[in-house]
Amino acid sequence: MSTTVIKNGTIVTADLTYKADVLIEGGVITAIGPNLMGETSLDATGCYVMPGGIDPHTHLEMPFMGTYSTDDFESGTRAALAGGTTMVIDFALPSPGQSLLEAITMWDNKSTRANCDYSFHMAITWWGEQVFNEMETVVKDKGITTFKHFMAYKGALMVDDDEMYASFSRVGELGGIAMVHAENGDVVAQLQQKLLAAGNNGPEAHAYSRPAEVEGEATNRAIMIADMTGTPLYVVHTSCEQSHEAIRRARQKGMRVWGEPLIQHLTLDESEYAHPDWDHAARRVMSPPFRNKLHQDSLWAGLSAGSLQVVATDHCAFTTEQKRYGVGDFTKIPNGTGGLEDRMPMLWTYGVGTGRLTMNEFVAVTSTNIAKILNCYPKKGAVLVGADADLVVWDPEKSKTISAGTQQSAIDYNVFEGKHVKGLPRFTLTRGHVAIHDGEVRTEEGHGKFVARKPVTPTNTALSTWKELTSPRKVERSGIPASGV
Ligand code: URP
Ligand code: ZN
Ligand code: ZN
Repeated sequence: MSTTVIKNGTIVTADLTYKADVLIEGGVITAIGPNLMGETSLDATGCYVMPGGIDPHTHLEMPFMGTYSTDDFESGTRAALAGGTTMVIDFALPSPGQSLLEAITMWDNKSTRANCDYSFHMAITWWGEQVFNEMETVVKDKGITTFKHFMAYKGALMVDDDEMYASFSRVGELGGIAMVHAENGDVVAQLQQKLLAAGNNGPEAHAYSRPAEVEGEATNRAIMIADMTGTPLYVVHTSCEQSHEAIRRARQKGMRVWGEPLIQHLTLDESEYAHPDWDHAARRVMSPPFRNKLHQDSLWAGLSAGSLQVVATDHCAFTTEQKRYGVGDFTKIPNGTGGLEDRMPMLWTYGVGTGRLTMNEFVAVTSTNIAKILNCYPKKGAVLVGADADLVVWDPEKSKTISAGTQQSAIDYNVFEGKHVKGLPRFTLTRGHVAIHDGEVRTEEGHGKFVARKPVTPTNTALSTWKELTSPRKVERSGIPASGV
């Protein structure tokens, strides 16, 4: 078996910063220490050797809003590796009424082209006995332990509270984690109709129809249902103070609740929707929408204080042509933006580069926390002997201006166009294979493997009414009055 050594670098983990070489054999780390030798040597002088990024939230080649997201598992994972991300977790999405197992087979087929390792979350888009039964197979046989519920997209993917309560209960029983897209879909639908009726049909109305209040309300509701069912909860794309506040409060009370800001919400604001160019604004239509500076400050504070734990992209990339489905009606603009290639450089530049995050916090929120919460640590998210050699050799002096012209993503624009980033991969390794070498792409289509995850997360017992609800005490009475007919 050939050996590779990463020499002269400084290892940065979620906990430690120290100088050592890293030896790789058969795709895993086999030694860490001084003066290691291997057949191939990668020079990390002046660089940080970190666990490769894990993006816990992507939608590759996903059928959505009358089309498919344009980046597939090949271009999406190539973009990921170019930016230092070595694992993605995508959502298997059954259409309402479809078998969960059938959806997994579809996602298995798409993902054969992946350039880096990946895992799946399961979306619960409808409810019934079949879903209830299949969930056990999904967890026990398919290695998928996280179940996402859309509280928005009424009439398409949205689930009601009764379905959410039933599904959360089942997730809890199976030792999984419930996930939510937290926006009140009923209120959004009302606001959309009001705006359209008043002639507000441009992309800016997308943001007006999804204020922070609808996200805050849904996050609070999901937390309460998670509490009542004793189920751990992961809130995807947390974008505002109202949602962050609910998560903070639940965690303070001892609940297992996690929040996931996106790099887009951290670095782009609502002024993007006021741009005079329709395409510019529509390209940035995603849910939740970009917010103002106060919300951004809240998200940054949450990452440094630990009340928000991970940074994702929700990469769901549509071309300009696809975005134009919504000319004349903003509700038809496919929701989603890209970011897989830019998450790590943008977070380094705007987080570490500005002093908002330490390097160790950067590793925690882009990789290690994600692997721990989603239970693939220390195979992933670690620089440890025995861990997969999913590594990024990070050059803090390397810089570039982000441009669609040089990106790996298959779409024709980039929402971060023109942003100057300092801090980029010198090498990205996926299970020991050097996929990115000083900007040169050496990915291998099909190299990526599925990472199965086991259920371990225990029940939430914090607040909580869940015990009384699961074993209610019947009051014995000596006499029962006749019914009053
Ligand atoms: O606008 C978004 N976020 N599109 C992707 C689907 C989702 O809601 O996560
Ligand atoms: Zn969502
Ligand atoms: Zn998403």
